[in-house]
Amino acid sequence: MPSKLTVCDHPVVQDKLSALRDKHTRPDDFRLLMSEISALMAYEVLKGVRTRRTMVQTPLRSASAEFLAQPIACVAVLRAGLGMLTGLLSVVPRCRVGHIGLYRNEETLNPVRYYVRLPKDLAESFVILCDPMLATGGSACEAIRILKTDGARQIVLMSVLACRAGVRRVHELFPEVPIYAAAVDPQLNKSGYIVPGLGDAGDRLFWT
Ligand code: PRP
Ligand code: URA
Repeated sequence: MPSKLTVCDHPVVQDKLSALRDKHTRPDDFRLLMSEISALMAYEVLKGVRTRRTMVQTPLRSASAEFLAQPIACVAVLRAGLGMLTGLLSVVPRCRVGHIGLYRNEETLNPVRYYVRLPKDLAESFVILCDPMLATGGSACEAIRILKTDGARQIVLMSVLACRAGVRRVHELFPEVPIYAAAVDPQLNKSGYIVPGLGDAGDRLFWT
């Protein structure tokens, strides 16, 4: 079976990820970096989207052409997934956007759902589920469950930073969902934070 985990190890992505990890990076730079990483990763993530081959007329002659031929939906897991949207939308401006509000219960680390608003036509769409942090995997699995219940059939999970436990959990429950990340860290600490990680992505994005 082909690997369903793609680590985007491009030097430019790694350079920006390193700055994102740095605790001295300020929220304004943190937002920009997360957005830029998301735009760069979008090229890799969108390789699986359906296209249509046709011809176009250049000023000189006809040329074979390829256009995107599938609706694209970006679904952000609140809050931190919001930090990925600007970058993604810069690559695919004509896409629908959905939101899934989840927070982790601090003791159990289980996701608690507080908001769901999804685009129409999920069944036909190439759905990019955006959450920069894949830690225990609880939030990602809950979000995938919500998307599937709403009819989504082609889902990719786009994270900035994953950890091994989270990747394993998503793959166990949803082996058909490819995961993209800029890095996979080895551990979680007792509070469920990725180590070395980058801290609390939502707090660093929104300065809370
Ligand atoms: C963070 C992050 C993910 C989740 C990952 O959200 O944005 O959604 O934790 O952890 P998991 O893989 O163990 O589920 P958080 O619950 O901190 O909410 P926030 O984005 O609103 O801060
Ligand atoms: N959520 C975060 O924001 N950071 C982590 O390390 C784990 C979950």
